[in-house]
Amino acid sequence: MKVDGRAYRTIWPDPDGESVIILDQTLFPHRFETARLTVVEDAARAISDMLVRGAPLIGATAAYGMALAMRADASDTALAKAYEQLHATRPTAINLRWALDRMHAVLRPLPQGDRAEAAWEEAARVCDEDVAINSAIGDNGLAIIRDIAAKKGSAPVNILTHCNAGWLATVDWGTATAPIYKAHDAGIPVHVWVDETRPRNQGAFLTAWELGRHGVPHTVIVDNAGGHLMQHGDVDMVIVGTDRTTARGDVCNKIGTYLKALAAKDNGIPFYVALPTPTIDHRVHDGIAEIPIEDRSQDEVRFISGRSGEAVTRVDLLPPGSAAANPSFDVTPARLVTALVTEKGVIPATAEAIAALS
Ligand code: MRU
Repeated sequence: MKVDGRAYRTIWPDPDGESVIILDQTLFPHRFETARLTVVEDAARAISDMLVRGAPLIGATAAYGMALAMRADASDTALAKAYEQLHATRPTAINLRWALDRMHAVLRPLPQGDRAEAAWEEAARVCDEDVAINSAIGDNGLAIIRDIAAKKGSAPVNILTHCNAGWLATVDWGTATAPIYKAHDAGIPVHVWVDETRPRNQGAFLTAWELGRHGVPHTVIVDNAGGHLMQHGDVDMVIVGTDRTTARGDVCNKIGTYLKALAAKDNGIPFYVALPTPTIDHRVHDGIAEIPIEDRSQDEVRFISGRSGEAVTRVDLLPPGSAAANPSFDVTPARLVTALVTEKGVIPATAEAIAALS
């Protein structure tokens, strides 16, 4: 993604070889600032406090967290401790465990003296692969948008998305946004309905920001508007990301995704889920029963922040004494998913098709 003429990834190693740079997403869209991670605790905090977020980027940050840990202490004890510390940050996105398992499998057999360098290289590979995977998801999803566009003549393809499964959720491209960026770049007219995605507003703060940077026409809507727009023929397709996809094709994504899938089904609108194959948890089948759903602070519901002049202000929305609840993800059953858009192709959300991927 280009910002002010410079191409950025969302995470990269500092040329000093000792630290890692991220974009601090808690400051978007008001400020575009980087933050430096120098020890594994920084990486763990960046994930749990959501300076970085989005399943693939959580995995990439965890990989670099392991590399930072190995720079400081490459013993078996430090390796196990770093794994546990990073694993405890957020429970839902499976990419976290995937990246940690991958790093552990590479590092554990090595002599301690070789671990730091190997960890650094493996983390870089995780990032490079994420970019290639998302680009391939973009190519596969582009074909879907192209088909819809062919039926619409010169009218734009109206695409609804929820949360941020964009560039900012990955190392580059995004998953759900990759087909949108590729369609836009190919000259296909697209327009994106961006769910604001309360309580943290990843749609309004992040997706709208990056679509705007890329020049993609978009409109931010409140989370409850999607069903109405679908009933009135204003949505041609829905595409979202996922934090964990089960072996039978259930998808767990940001809270509110399930309601969009229900509305899409009721209105005969295709509901696509874009995912890199590391987001598949082959050990889990029934997403509703088996996927741990992150329960975040009720303060995220109670307070909302925004810019007022140069200052960012936080205001209390609730009457004193009212409780708030904040389940952060929900599960959309496979039967509501039209297809999964992966780097290996577009497949039905079925156990057979998912098993055939590996
Ligand atoms: O809580 P977040 O912001 O980490 O949630 C992110 C999402 O729900 C994304 O849709 C998901 O991680 C897929 S990202 C390609």
